[in-house]
Amino acid sequence: MFCRICNNQTQVINSFGRMPIANNFLKQDSFKEEYFFDLETMFCISCKTFQLVEQPDPQLMFHENYAFFSGTSKKMAEHFKIMAESYRQQFIADPQKAFVVELGSNDGIMLKHFARDGIKHLGVEPSENVAHVAREQGVATKVAFFGEQTASAILEEHGQADIICAANVMCHIPDLASVAKGVVSLLKNDGVFVFEDPYLGDVIQKTSYDQIYDEHVYIFSLLSVQQIFEPYGLELFHVEPQITHGGSMRYYLCLQGQRVVQDSVKKQLEIEKTLGLDNVETFINFRDACEKSRQELVTLLKELKAAGKRVVGYAATSKSTTILNYCGIGKESIEYISDTTPLKQGKFSPGMHIPIKPYQEFTNDTPDYAVLFAWNHAQEIFEKEENFTKKGGKWITFIPEVKVLEQV
Ligand code: TMP
Ligand code: ZN
Repeated sequence: MFCRICNNQTQVINSFGRMPIANNFLKQDSFKEEYFFDLETMFCISCKTFQLVEQPDPQLMFHENYAFFSGTSKKMAEHFKIMAESYRQQFIADPQKAFVVELGSNDGIMLKHFARDGIKHLGVEPSENVAHVAREQGVATKVAFFGEQTASAILEEHGQADIICAANVMCHIPDLASVAKGVVSLLKNDGVFVFEDPYLGDVIQKTSYDQIYDEHVYIFSLLSVQQIFEPYGLELFHVEPQITHGGSMRYYLCLQGQRVVQDSVKKQLEIEKTLGLDNVETFINFRDACEKSRQELVTLLKELKAAGKRVVGYAATSKSTTILNYCGIGKESIEYISDTTPLKQGKFSPGMHIPIKPYQEFTNDTPDYAVLFAWNHAQEIFEKEENFTKKGGKWITFIPEVKVLEQV
């Protein structure tokens, strides 16, 4: 297997088996046509990029029925508001002349803060349905995949950008060469390219293998980000860890030599050395840890079933698709998964076909256990669900290890 970034030979790490599209919540009449692929990861010893072996066609993942709306979690809305303020403060000297471009702008959750202040902006979003929601909120949005071509079209129409940003988007894009070239041509000389994604350091430390699914073709580290973008003349000058998505990293890049490289880069690179993110052994250990996690979760659910307990799932996240399919957990173990997204309700989970029910059913129900699939929103959920624990309900988590939480 060859690396998408540097073309060198890689080492296969995880084989999670047959896997459906993580976000493809489906109706019963579509079970027969459901698409599956082999979910495997590989690590490139040369450029240190951890990546999928095979990625399904983007048209299968991001289309008009794409079920992911950024604007569904309060904490994420707050995160994007703070992000917009921070970018504006750091990188916009004159709001009248500024131009902000966001790649994968989703429903406009971040850009709306620029739109409201009358700052020139453009979202680039491949999914028509979420782009439509963004436009309704006054966020200028172009329906396209970002690459060299899209960049030159934007350049022609709007000129160069002060900020090109992306959140949970770069790790979805296999052809980063085209993105990097597009960014370099679109960015002003003193502009910044800033993006954040789930961080490999957290995935390794927490065994959060549910970050691995069709959309996430890469899970980045600083080591890999430098190797990926430096050949195109983009320099990493600052990083900031984020708590979102169970541990993310924000990467700040500029055109080579335009800014002072901050200490944050050196410090985080040292942490990566300590974690062994440059070493294939670390990934072999990660594979063993995933296997152990699977065995423990399957055993726990079997024990609960044998004891006659009722178990449901909480939040039909994309991440849960990897867990459920890799562990082979179906509706015999988890009766249903409750979720607040109307588009998912009444459908079934990808691959294992567990029914997705409206959130109200969970609040009216009294299951014994709930598996916390949205573990990255744990705090927000525990606060909201005091009633569940008061009624004697218990949470099951699997990150960083499989356990029943006795107290929350
Ligand atoms: P994600 O942002 O981790 O991918 O989670 C998205 C899904 O989780 C989405 O379908 C909404 C669902 N969800 C709930 O059902 N209840 C909640 O309290 C939270 C935070 C998310
Ligand atoms: Zn490589």
